[in-house]
Amino acid sequence: VSLAVVIGSGAREHALAVGLAREADVLATPGSDGIAAHGIPCTSASPVDLDGDLFVIGPEIPLVAGLADTLRAQGKSVLGPGANGARLEGSKAHMKELLAAANVPTAGFASSSDVTEALALLSKMRPPYVIKTDGLAAGKGVLVTSSLAEAEKDVREKLSGAAFGDAGTTVVIEEYLDGEECSLLCLVDGERAVPLVPAQDFKRVGTGNTGANTGGMGAFAPLASMSPGLVEHVMAMVVEPTLRELRRRGVEYRGVLYAGLMLGPDGPQLVEFNVRFGDPETQVVVPLVERGLYDALLGAANGELRGPPSFAGGAAVTVVLAAAGYPQAPRTGERIDGLDASGQAAEEVEGVTVYHAGTRKGDDGEFSTAGGRVLSVTGTGPDVATARRRAYEAASTISFPGMVMRTDIAARHSGGER
Ligand code: AMP
Ligand code: GLY
Repeated sequence: VSLAVVIGSGAREHALAVGLAREADVLATPGSDGIAAHGIPCTSASPVDLDGDLFVIGPEIPLVAGLADTLRAQGKSVLGPGANGARLEGSKAHMKELLAAANVPTAGFASSSDVTEALALLSKMRPPYVIKTDGLAAGKGVLVTSSLAEAEKDVREKLSGAAFGDAGTTVVIEEYLDGEECSLLCLVDGERAVPLVPAQDFKRVGTGNTGANTGGMGAFAPLASMSPGLVEHVMAMVVEPTLRELRRRGVEYRGVLYAGLMLGPDGPQLVEFNVRFGDPETQVVVPLVERGLYDALLGAANGELRGPPSFAGGAAVTVVLAAAGYPQAPRTGERIDGLDASGQAAEEVEGVTVYHAGTRKGDDGEFSTAGGRVLSVTGTGPDVATARRRAYEAASTISFPGMVMRTDIAARHSGGER
């Protein structure tokens, strides 16, 4: 049996580990108490010191830091770009420059590290204003607002380093894009790219798309408005030109390329690239894989991608249970009710898996909250409406003090049950 090593500790890695465990042995590093409770071995050993047939790097921080390069230099098969490819996510200014060179449809933008210059740029834009931190900010570095005063305050805070430290000392100011959001995750083997099932993520903390941007409060797949024809269009107009431009610059990209898209009146536009699996998108894409996940990931890692994994049909919806104060200042250490010893919903609902994001298991065997996003409760079913009902039914049996949950994940997309 092959051994897949999953690097990371969140709900995304939990979903990858569970998906891969159907086809291979899996070891997670560092993993989490929730992953271990699910029966998947975890180790605190560094991936550099581990043997395995496939290494899957979950989070962006080690990718940007060059972990894939280090592991490849040891002769390992790695799903994840090297530091030169991961720069696409590590710097938004770099990403925008590359998109322009590749002629990819995206919002117009300007970037600056100087407060006076940035405020002058802002004064020339029309609302709503979109202001982004250049560097990594866990999805929290973006402000979209109609208030010029709020936009100016945000620019000052980011450029002073108060908001995101060094990651925030350059801002990107963008044209506002309207439309339906889509996350299209693609497997890339250096040459070829294949799309996975299109998903949608809900980025704002509050029901009705209100409040601050987060890492993601829920997701569902498939997204019906992203038709097969539209997927083909995005591959041809967004993904392939980007990979060509990367190759032209000598970057061999093997990993997941995540296209964050806005499906608007002028056709799909790229909002951003991520260089990894999305979180929480992975918690709805991986459960829909019927078979071939391991082979597809290994194929991408080895430059021998033959096609996507096969998807089962049906739909998945995930609902994130977050801590009070997320995303600014999550309160941790609260005891979680409604989980059994394996970390799953104690009151079993058909088609549901609970993925752990920020939990810790105490000596008494009970789980407590240990992060901003705590759990990602995924329901699957024949259609979005059924998957959604199951996810919320299971989520309603789980609770902890101050728990934050959006009640409208996939609501607009639940046409009815089959
Ligand atoms: P990003 O981290 O760049 O994906 O931005 C986070 C979220 O902010 C996106 O998923 C959108 O919901 C929103 N957003 C980012 N850029 C724009 C834009 N140019 N126009 C409208 N909304 C945007
Ligand atoms: N769900 C957004 C992200 O993974 O960046």
